[in-house]
Amino acid sequence: MSNKIESIAVLTSGGDAPGMNACIRSVVRAAIAQGLKVSGIERGYAGLLNEEIREMDAHSVSDIIQRGGTILYTARCMEFLELEWQKRGADILRERGIGALVVIGGDGSYKGALALARQGISVIGIPGTIDLDIACTDYTIGFDTSVNTAMEAIDKIRDTSSSHERCSIVEVMGRSAGYIAMACGIATGAEEILVPEMYDGDEQAIINRVIANRSLGKKHHLVINAEGVGHSASMARRIEAATGVNTRATILGYLQRGGSPTCRDRFMASMMGVKAVDLLISGKDNRVVAAREGRLVDVDIEEALVMQKNLPAGWVRTSKLLTR
Ligand code: ADP
Ligand code: F6P
Repeated sequence: MSNKIESIAVLTSGGDAPGMNACIRSVVRAAIAQGLKVSGIERGYAGLLNEEIREMDAHSVSDIIQRGGTILYTARCMEFLELEWQKRGADILRERGIGALVVIGGDGSYKGALALARQGISVIGIPGTIDLDIACTDYTIGFDTSVNTAMEAIDKIRDTSSSHERCSIVEVMGRSAGYIAMACGIATGAEEILVPEMYDGDEQAIINRVIANRSLGKKHHLVINAEGVGHSASMARRIEAATGVNTRATILGYLQRGGSPTCRDRFMASMMGVKAVDLLISGKDNRVVAAREGRLVDVDIEEALVMQKNLPAGWVRTSKLLTR
């Protein structure tokens, strides 16, 4: 980055995640404290193209650290996949003297940021998604709140499931990744955890375990099913028909995206926001902030987008040893 940046903007994009507000607050306050002007762009890339841009001060982010959702709103914007609109987005920022953009979102949002980088805007990505599915980082803002919310809901389902001696299938979010399902499944002591990375479709094995557990006197059978496996309702009908055990499916849905962020999400969001501003001030751009082995690091955005990651081996082993 050759020119010193004096004015930056921040937006949230893709699915919202608890802790995004804490991150916006961190970016705004860290920037102002170090002499930068900051603007908030509402509704992600859609708001950029519609010029829904407002200058923010320290007070604009008061009283939001504890709130779920995002005060900047979020959107999915298909136009932004087209070069013409990416150029327009960069021009809008330049016309306003905004030299750098901090994007809080998932890897789809990082692709939008990379498109702007190719048009000469300095960008920094911050991982914000409940799904934990960004390869370059061990942590994404929103995951911790989401799994805690889901865990509490699953505990409640387990109570009623035990009382009625039922089998319960609980479907959790995660898009095509099984991180949420795996974490919730381990934390709730589920009998089965089905994740897209590993589930081979062997429903008969589940049926056999339901029958075996019944004969051992187990009162419930809890199946945590990832959104990426899906079909929870029809799976419940088939398990009930094959086992004679009353089976219900619950899809937790959007409740996993809301709510007041946990301490961990607020803390990580605050740390990551400061790191993003520090990167811009030190002249490093087109990077994404990542948590690796307990430290915050930064990774080139293009490299980040081609990285792959798998469910941690320790999670897989623990789930295999503890589910039955
Ligand atoms: P997430 O950021 O949570 O992965 P999405 O995949 O929905 O969410 O992406 C959010 C937004 O990022 C999209 O609606 C679009 O505006 C932008 N985006 C996604 N992919 C691209 C791409 N290939 N090029 C430019 N912009 C993109
Ligand atoms: O990325 C977060 C997430 O909640 C995924 O778990 C889910 O697949 C998706 O967003 C749902 O998106 P939408 O809000 O468009 O229904």
